[in-house]
Amino acid sequence: MSFAELWAELLPLGRDERTGGYRRYAWTEADAACRRWFVRTASRLGLATECDRNGNLWAWWGSPDGRAAVVTGSHLDSVPDGGGYDGPLGVVSAFAAIGQLRTQGFRPARPIAVAAFTEEEGARFGVACLGSRLLTGAIDASTARQLRDRDGVSLAEAMRVAGRDPGLLGADDELLASLGACVELHIEQGSLLAGLGAPVGVAAGIWPHGRWRLDFAGRADHAGTTRLPDRRDPMLPFAATVLAARAAAEQHGALVTVGKVVAEPGAANAISAVVHAWLDARAPDDATLAAAVAGVWAVAQQEAARHEVQANRVQESVTPAVSFDAELLARISAVLAGTGQPVPVLATGAGHDAGVLAGRLPATMLFVRNPTGVSHSPAEHAEPADCEAGVAALAAVLADLAGQ
Ligand code: GLV
Ligand code: MN
Ligand code: MN
Repeated sequence: MSFAELWAELLPLGRDERTGGYRRYAWTEADAACRRWFVRTASRLGLATECDRNGNLWAWWGSPDGRAAVVTGSHLDSVPDGGGYDGPLGVVSAFAAIGQLRTQGFRPARPIAVAAFTEEEGARFGVACLGSRLLTGAIDASTARQLRDRDGVSLAEAMRVAGRDPGLLGADDELLASLGACVELHIEQGSLLAGLGAPVGVAAGIWPHGRWRLDFAGRADHAGTTRLPDRRDPMLPFAATVLAARAAAEQHGALVTVGKVVAEPGAANAISAVVHAWLDARAPDDATLAAAVAGVWAVAQQEAARHEVQANRVQESVTPAVSFDAELLARISAVLAGTGQPVPVLATGAGHDAGVLAGRLPATMLFVRNPTGVSHSPAEHAEPADCEAGVAALAAVLADLAGQ
C-alpha cells in the first residue's frame, strides 16, 4: 500500500464539511473511525494490533518480546478544526515505510511498532499527550478518569461508551520495558525546513510548555441597565489577561496564547457570570516559562480584584524541556546523510508523545517540510513529494535501528 493510497483512505474521516478542518476527538465516533482504519491497515500489512490499557493503539511487526522494539507512529486525534497532517502524517508514513521495507524483503531483528497515541492534543479532556502520559505514569489514573469534556462527560464515561475499561488505565511498565527507541515522524509546525530548502529534518528537543485554565467569576446582570460602577464583569480581567499574555511573550522571548474562551451564560445582552480562558505558554527554558506564566497570572489576579471578580487558575498540563537522545540523533543524522539532502536539526515549541516517552527511552523525531509553516488549521499542508521523502527517511531509519 502506497502512502498516497493510505492517505486518501484516512482523509475523509472526521473532517467537517463546512470548515474543511478535522474534529477527531478522543473516544468519539470520528476517533472510532480512525481506529478502525488503523486496525484494517495493520491487518493488511500483516501486523498484529493491540489496544493498550490506556487506549493507545499498537501495530506490531514482530512480537513485543523484550527485544527493545523500535516505536514509530504518532496520533490520530486533532485540535478543533485541525489540519490533516498533525499526527496522521506520522501514522500513515509509518505504515507506508513498513510496506516499503516488506517489499524490499527487510526482516527486522528487533520488533517495530506503529503507535497511535490517544488524546495527544488534549482537545477533549484538556490534558495534552494524555495516552503517553498515562502509559509512562506522568499522570495518575484516578486523576485522568475524572477529567471532563466541555459537556461534563468524564474520560471514564467516554471510554466506557467506546467499549473500553477505564479501570485498566495506568502506567504500563511491562509495555515500556519492551521498547528500545522511539522515532515519531511529524509535519513541521513552522517553516524552518522550507527556509533551509530541506524536505526532512531531525528534532533536537522540545521547548517546555503548558496549559492553564483561568476562571473569572463575576455576576450576571443586564447589559442595558446595570450602571458601570455596579458591575462585576469577568470579561474585563479576562481581556486584560489576553493583553498580558502577549506582553509576557514579548518580554520573555516566549510564546503565550489565549486560544480558547468560554463565556457563560453567553448572552449578547447580559454581563457574563463566568469567563473560562485557556492560557497556552511555551518558552526556551523552564525558568522563562515559569516567569512568563507568573507575570500573566499576576495581572489576571490584580485586574480581577479591581473588578470584584474571583480569579482561579487550574494547571491542566505542563511538560518540562525535552532534549532528545544525542546518540540516537547522531545515528539518525548519519543514516539520513546518505540521502544527499541536507538534514537540519531543529527544536520545536510543539508538544509530542515522543517528548513524553523521551523520559523513559531514547527518542527523537523526524520533521517533514511544511511550506507555509501553518499548523492547527485546515490550511496545514505538506507536498506529496515531501511526504514521500519523509516515508523514505523513516524507512531508512527503521531499517537501521531494527536491522541486524
Ligand atoms: C500539540 O500540537 C501542541 O503542542 O499543542
Ligand atoms: Mn498538534
Ligand atoms: Mn501532533
